[in-house]
Amino acid sequence: MKLCFIGTGYVGLVSGVCFADIGNHVICVDKNLDKINRLNIGDIPIYEPGLSEMVKKNVDVGRLSFSNDLIKSANKSDIIFIAVGTPTSNDGASADLSQVFNVAKTLKKNIKKSKIIVTKSTVPLGTNDQIDKILNGKKKNKLFKVVSNPEFLREGDAIKDFKYPDRVVIGSDDKIVIRTLNALYRPIINKGAIFFASTRRAAELIKYASNAFLATKISFINEIADLCEKANVHVEDVAIGMGLDKRVGSRFLRAGPAYGGSCFPKDTKALIHTSKKFKSQLSIVNSVIKFNNNRNLHIEKNICRILKNKIKNKNVCFLGVTFKANTDDIRDSAALYLISKLSKKGANVKYYEPTGKKDFFDKNEKVKYFSDLYDAIKNNDLIIIHTEWDEFKSLDFTRIKKNNKKVKIYDLRNLYDSKFFQKSNIFYYSIGRPLYA
Ligand code: UGA
Repeated sequence: MKLCFIGTGYVGLVSGVCFADIGNHVICVDKNLDKINRLNIGDIPIYEPGLSEMVKKNVDVGRLSFSNDLIKSANKSDIIFIAVGTPTSNDGASADLSQVFNVAKTLKKNIKKSKIIVTKSTVPLGTNDQIDKILNGKKKNKLFKVVSNPEFLREGDAIKDFKYPDRVVIGSDDKIVIRTLNALYRPIINKGAIFFASTRRAAELIKYASNAFLATKISFINEIADLCEKANVHVEDVAIGMGLDKRVGSRFLRAGPAYGGSCFPKDTKALIHTSKKFKSQLSIVNSVIKFNNNRNLHIEKNICRILKNKIKNKNVCFLGVTFKANTDDIRDSAALYLISKLSKKGANVKYYEPTGKKDFFDKNEKVKYFSDLYDAIKNNDLIIIHTEWDEFKSLDFTRIKKNNKKVKIYDLRNLYDSKFFQKSNIFYYSIGRPLYA
């Protein structure tokens, strides 16, 4: 099929490229010409394992192209995907839908042939009704068929998640549209994904409810981890034991720092905003948001305790600053909060990040980037393992001991077994285990 993806952010770019890879002709459109020029020379704006190779392969065979001409690209395509950003608005809560509505208005003005419009951007309950209204007005014979098709990709695992998802959700009550999208997703359905067609509004809510539920699951295990720290229990034992019950499931039960990224913090807030509109109380999601904000403070307090409340002039090294491994995305990463607090308290913060230097810290003279892991690790009072990159999973402790007088490690991802450090002179602290193990 001929597809057009509007928006080459995370969702649009990965989905567009993956759809090309399963045999479709795809044009990825963005209004940012610089981004399109970069994509056209194979310079991929995001870090996603396997994406760059997939772009090259599909461009070479002529199935994938990039353009900043929305109207021409949309006119050439059968299905148009809206995949522009829906960041948090200036009010700090609701989703800013201006980009989505602007695309809809442009399509309405310039496209005169019938098209299927698929909303992949994460949009609150009722947004597709608004898009429909912009595109079709009150006409009964609709030129544009507006469908909700939420995305469940995880950064860092996006290609795998696209090709082998648990489910494909389509929100539409138009049988022909559902059949067309079923055909589009057929190669993925054939590999085991469940195709679930619901109403458009249910599909919108499925996305937010899924993210809010996962955020709740993480916060739940983080709260249990706090109890474990006090009660001399290892949180992994609890998570494994819980996860063996299929009703609970073992995934997303890894205790750690506050969850971050471009989705969970934004989407939980937007869900609360939506619920208020419908005069409904989402007290659980509200508690999760509060708990997650407090989690940063909790970890900060632990760091202070580990450093015996003497933070000034202490050398603290962060291993990884992105919100999780296998991504270069730093949005809403716990490291942003922790580094800012520690540097304000007078610590000299160093960081090593596998995806390179982050401009975000450039203005903070107490924060220094190291491009070499072991250079960063030298002469520290505390090393904080912030993200679970593979290269942090087998650190050279002989070298670490040689380069640091008295080393303390605070492992926020529980990459190591505390027993391993018992007979060494490394002081190892982790999450949801006795704090001073
Ligand atoms: C999340 C969802 O997992 C995707 O299904 C969804 O499509 C995406 O948001 C989105 O809405 O676009 P992502 O933000 O890439 O994906 O990251 P996750 O892997 O879900 O991790 C989110 C946060 O939770 C990270 O800070 C991670 O470190 C944390 N986490 C995750 C834990 O602390 N423990 C876990 O067990 C799992």
